[in-house]
Amino acid sequence: MLFEPLKSQIETIVSNENKSVNERLLEISKLLEANVPHYNWVGFYFRNGKKEELILGPYVGAPTDHTIIPFGKGICGQVAVSNKNFVVPDVNAQDNYIACSITVKAEIVIPIFVNGKNIGQIDIDSNTLDPFTKDDERFLEFVCEKVSSIL
Ligand code: SME
Repeated sequence: MLFEPLKSQIETIVSNENKSVNERLLEISKLLEANVPHYNWVGFYFRNGKKEELILGPYVGAPTDHTIIPFGKGICGQVAVSNKNFVVPDVNAQDNYIACSITVKAEIVIPIFVNGKNIGQIDIDSNTLDPFTKDDERFLEFVCEKVSSIL
């Protein structure tokens, strides 16, 4: 399956202490975007200190204006509050959605927990309609768990 060989590559990237955390997060974003055909924008958002907002971290894909997202706004802001995976098969069917690019058709956001606290998330946009399965969720939960070990 598509995701299995990527898991050991994620582990290798995460454990490379010669690179900063942000360099490793960028490398993970690049790995995912390059190897999973339905991942077209891959990035990380993190809670901005004690503020109830997310701030954009490393990402790969089209530049976005949405470098700060208040809690509750858009798919990302909703995950900051719900602490749950959010799979959006069709972004046009969502009321509370922040459009970054007109090419995006679907989105998946998986929270990252450190010591049980939701401190950020991985956000993936797809130019394909309804591309995400349970396999994406399990794989991205694995990625978030590995990433949380270096935060
Ligand atoms: N679509 C997201 C905003 C972030 S961009 O996808 C990079 C949202 O609705 O929260």
